[in-house]
Amino acid sequence: MEQRLRELAQEALRALEGANTPEELNHIRVHYLGKKGEVTQVLRGMGALPAEERPRIGQVANEVREQIETALAARNQHVKEAQRSLRLAAETLDVSLPGVRFDLGKLHPLTQVLREIETIFLGLGFQIAEGPEIELDYYNFEALNLPKDHPARDMQDTFFINPEVLLRTHTSPVQVRTMEKTVPHVPVKVICPGRVYRRDDDATHSPMFHQVEGLVVDKQITFADLKGVLATFARQMFGPATRTRLRPSYFPFTEPSAEVDISCFNCQGSGCRVCKGSGWLEILGSGMVHPRVLEMSGYNPEEVTGFAFGMGVERIAMLKYGIDDLRLLFDNDIRFLEQF
Ligand code: DAH
Repeated sequence: MEQRLRELAQEALRALEGANTPEELNHIRVHYLGKKGEVTQVLRGMGALPAEERPRIGQVANEVREQIETALAARNQHVKEAQRSLRLAAETLDVSLPGVRFDLGKLHPLTQVLREIETIFLGLGFQIAEGPEIELDYYNFEALNLPKDHPARDMQDTFFINPEVLLRTHTSPVQVRTMEKTVPHVPVKVICPGRVYRRDDDATHSPMFHQVEGLVVDKQITFADLKGVLATFARQMFGPATRTRLRPSYFPFTEPSAEVDISCFNCQGSGCRVCKGSGWLEILGSGMVHPRVLEMSGYNPEEVTGFAFGMGVERIAMLKYGIDDLRLLFDNDIRFLEQF
């Protein structure tokens, strides 16, 4: 019996050497040490032994069991480690491989310029007002002192929907809508960004473009306020060295009216290709709100005065970025857009 036990031990140890998975190990354990296992079977036969042999055989049996258990544990450890290194090898990352790059989108150059303009005026205490793109003739023209037969209407080639309804040709109607909402209170201090439409289409005109309107109405607003606000805007938008110049002009809704030029940011005023040799760049129209416009919106021009201005966002973007064809801004060619 002792012989048999020692044989079983050798057999089990040999079997363990070939075991490479936890399942195989478990199988071997059950086969030798389980309830119906080989070693267990042998021990069952102990009852047939003479009493004086039993302790010794019992001891051998324990030794054999321990031997197998120790070997099992050792092999188990080995198998686990082997499996772990296999798994690690399979999971190896080559951190030197280039990653997958995602291109980040950007804001359209017009959006960037528009936000810059808005930020500057918000900083000066203006609020943002909006109005409809499909507008009444009344707001687009009449309430701005442009009656039906006014020759200045020709300056703004208009898309009419019917004789009373049109696509707004400028953001100035938002002046009127804002005053109607605010009257009789002051101050009114708004900018009105938005799309406008004209029957025009060439390298510097698009049938749809963007304007930002400005309007300030309060007691004792003067031409000096207009100049101060617009000079501040110009310096923030085009750089601290920027100078401004006001040229007399005409708009039906302002009196007096002025065209605002800035010193050319490219040549600082000495004359170059950007400013076509003049040293100045025209950026917006402006003026003191015409008393009739104030009156039509319900304000008493004896009590309040105001100034207004309007600028083209495309024009400012083209100047700022040196773009010579406005249509590039609307083609949405990624090779163009990603430069901003
Ligand atoms: N609405 C004018 C245009 O589209 C621009 C303009 C000029 C707006 C003078 C104003 C202003 O508010 O005071 O040509």
